[in-house]
Amino acid sequence: MNPEEYVLATGQEGADRLLIVQRVHGEDTADLFHRLGDLKGKRVADLGCGVGAISRWIASYVGESGSVWGIDVSEAQIEQAKQLTEQQGIKNIQYSVASAYKTGLPREAFDVAYCRFLLMHVREPERVLAEMYSLIKPGGWLVVEDGDFTTPSCLPPVREVDQVMELYRLAGASQGADFEIGKRLHRLALETGVEETQARLVQPAYLRGIEKRLPIWSLQEATPYLLKNSLATQAEIDHIQSVVERVIQDETYLMTMARMTQVWGKKPQKA
Ligand SMILES: C[S@@+](CC[C@H](N)C(=O)[O-])C[C@H]1O[C@@H](n2cnc3c(N)ncnc32)[C@H](O)[C@@H]1O
Repeated sequence: MNPEEYVLATGQEGADRLLIVQRVHGEDTADLFHRLGDLKGKRVADLGCGVGAISRWIASYVGESGSVWGIDVSEAQIEQAKQLTEQQGIKNIQYSVASAYKTGLPREAFDVAYCRFLLMHVREPERVLAEMYSLIKPGGWLVVEDGDFTTPSCLPPVREVDQVMELYRLAGASQGADFEIGKRLHRLALETGVEETQARLVQPAYLRGIEKRLPIWSLQEATPYLLKNSLATQAEIDHIQSVVERVIQDETYLMTMARMTQVWGKKPQKA
């Protein structure tokens, strides 16, 4: 891990949560990639790839003639990513442990540089975006998506569900991250110099199912960090958790996930 502390769990513990993240957001991510046109045979860099849930989907989307290179700063995440990729017999992905600020990947070598739920975790998203831009071939795509964690809630509203997200944002803010980055992602992307930029907002919601548990899992994973930094007491967390658990079990409550901002634009062709 780099000196920037990551609020959530990594390795096996984090893998389970990230596979649920993919169930919740994967469909919208696939929709985003479909908007880029035919990517068969293309080369994609996936920064902050976690356990590779989306890298593996992209690998199938670009086909065997294409390839994905996933990087993550966490060795534990990359270890999980490699294991899961091998188990699934996927051959066109390579992974490395690297910082998104300085990936070490070849310059202007990728048709797409992509990240999801990475920029909200880093202190200097502009620097990560500049690195992504430098990886893209002229005419290639910069593709980013990230959340605004003021938007997850439930309908009708329940105070404790909102408190989960307040604590989650507090944990992020205390380590210099921006869990509301979705609000300014389009501007950050535009500042890189991409052209023909487009943006879209999407927000999944669930009445039932394992996906509805995602907010409570995020709280559970952030709990050690919240306690260690005196951002909440165990009694407060226990109360919130028991109320949110009841909301999850009750199909009359619609749990809304983070609203995602998706932005994509092209690196200009050289004159
Ligand atoms: C919430 S996960 C998202 C994983 C994956 N993109 C997804 O959507 O399923 C964020 C990932 O970013 C990684 N990360 C955080 N800071 C990073 C940095 N500076 N460079 C590279 N990876 C980083 C974490 O280790 C973690 O695996």
